[in-house]
Amino acid sequence: MSVQTAKKRVAILISGRGSNMVSLIEAARAPDYPAEIVLVLANRPDAAGLTRAREAGIPARAIDHKAFSDRTGFDAALQAELDAAGIELIVLAGFMRILTDAFVEAWAGRMINIHPSLLPLFKGTHTHERALEAGVRLHGCTVHYVVPELDAGPIVAQAAVPVLPGDDADALAARVIVQEHRLYPAALALIAGGGAVLDGGRVRLAETEHDAGAALISL
Ligand code: GAR
Repeated sequence: MSVQTAKKRVAILISGRGSNMVSLIEAARAPDYPAEIVLVLANRPDAAGLTRAREAGIPARAIDHKAFSDRTGFDAALQAELDAAGIELIVLAGFMRILTDAFVEAWAGRMINIHPSLLPLFKGTHTHERALEAGVRLHGCTVHYVVPELDAGPIVAQAAVPVLPGDDADALAARVIVQEHRLYPAALALIAGGGAVLDGGRVRLAETEHDAGAALISL
């Protein structure tokens, strides 16, 4: 007999088109998926992902960061929305706004991000251009817990893709995003279901989840 536990209440934070958000919303439709996407927030009113979320039936709101004089005010508004919706886990999906250390620390162990590189390589922006410049043969994406230092938190999952002759940044980005859409739902499922836990600054898989752990690595 399987024990049915409550689904984790998840908010997705976006800034743009929201393709990762869509892949998470679709995965979470499965009856046995351990997380429920209950809210989408964007820091830009023109984020295309807001419309996509509403079309999928998810409440979606913009909190325009330009309406706040500092990061603390914006983060307080964010926190109020998250509290009102009873959010347990935050998933950053193309959210391009730096959060205050205080906000990040308040959500320690309960906020994850996807980054378009094989961390710890190529933290920050323009990762595909920089991978090409560096001449690496493998590139990819990483799901990690968020800590105050940018793109530096414990790694949950990674997928690698080859860098092929003739690639430009767009071609490489197109290959990476396919993996992002597969990896992020798998990583969220393991975290929300308790199969992946933080342990001394690293992510440890529960012994019962070692098979599922294969979904967190892809070559
Ligand atoms: C994704 O490639 C994601 O990895 C990246 O932004 C893109 C968002 O696309 N995130 C970062 O660069 C975070 N530093 P999406 O809006 O279609 O999901």
